[in-house]
Amino acid sequence: MIRYEELCMKTCEVARQAGAFIRQEAGVFSAQKVEEKGIHNFVSYVDKGAEQLIVEQLHILLPEAGFIAEEGTAGFRGKRFNWVIDPLDGTTNFIHGLPPYAVSIGLTENDRSIMGVVYEVTLDECFYAWQGGGAYLNGKPIRTSDRSAVKDALIATGFPYCDYHLMRPYIDCLEYFLRHSHGVRRLGSAAADLAYVACGRFEAFYEYALSPWDVAGGVLILQEAGGKLSDFSGNDNYIFGKEIVAANHLVFNEFLTIVQKYLQP
Ligand code: IPD
Ligand code: CA
Ligand code: CA
Repeated sequence: MIRYEELCMKTCEVARQAGAFIRQEAGVFSAQKVEEKGIHNFVSYVDKGAEQLIVEQLHILLPEAGFIAEEGTAGFRGKRFNWVIDPLDGTTNFIHGLPPYAVSIGLTENDRSIMGVVYEVTLDECFYAWQGGGAYLNGKPIRTSDRSAVKDALIATGFPYCDYHLMRPYIDCLEYFLRHSHGVRRLGSAAADLAYVACGRFEAFYEYALSPWDVAGGVLILQEAGGKLSDFSGNDNYIFGKEIVAANHLVFNEFLTIVQKYLQP
């Protein structure tokens, strides 16, 4: 039988090890070491080295689990369990020396998240949760905020940077939130965005053109902290569906209705 609390603590140690490697390399990193995988999509030996370290350790922790990892270190999928890994979420921030950037690790069972770890490297903040066990930041329980209206919310998003098919409605939606909330932030790490909704720094987060590894670590942390999630249709395909709406449970319905008005007309 898998003991999820113990597994989660060990996964946090793995994320912290990868984070220590990333932090060490941040001090000596130069722009010549960056490769462009696709338009505005960057990678370096730091992403790949961190992923290698994570995959090796997680394979020992749960040998029956497969992997969905951004840099393709281990391509085999598990029948029931899969680790969904982003070794460095916020690569553009990292290569510009700008916080935040994070290690994101989710464990899925039949494609549903059952454990999540988001380790934000620059502030040494480890967010984690396992199903039914609550959500934590560096050992202390976290909850979503109690702000209940969009007009009182601070909202996180990710700007479109390579998939522009929803650019116009996205900008219109952004304008609505700029006019009718406390403001909108684009931090550059979807994993940190979700973790920050979970601990109440943000009330809500939305983005499209995401990959499973961007969100698989953060979604369970948010749920266990009292938040709600969906795709733009209001359904639950938010890990593999490439789009996400996430918020504290008080503001979620109002927030989703506004996102849908623009992005799901
Ligand atoms: C990116 C970050 C960013 C989001 C992008 C992601 P990466 O991940 O999460 O906030 O806007 O969609 O691709 O490429 O830095 O791992
Ligand atoms: Ca990412
Ligand atoms: Ca990444």
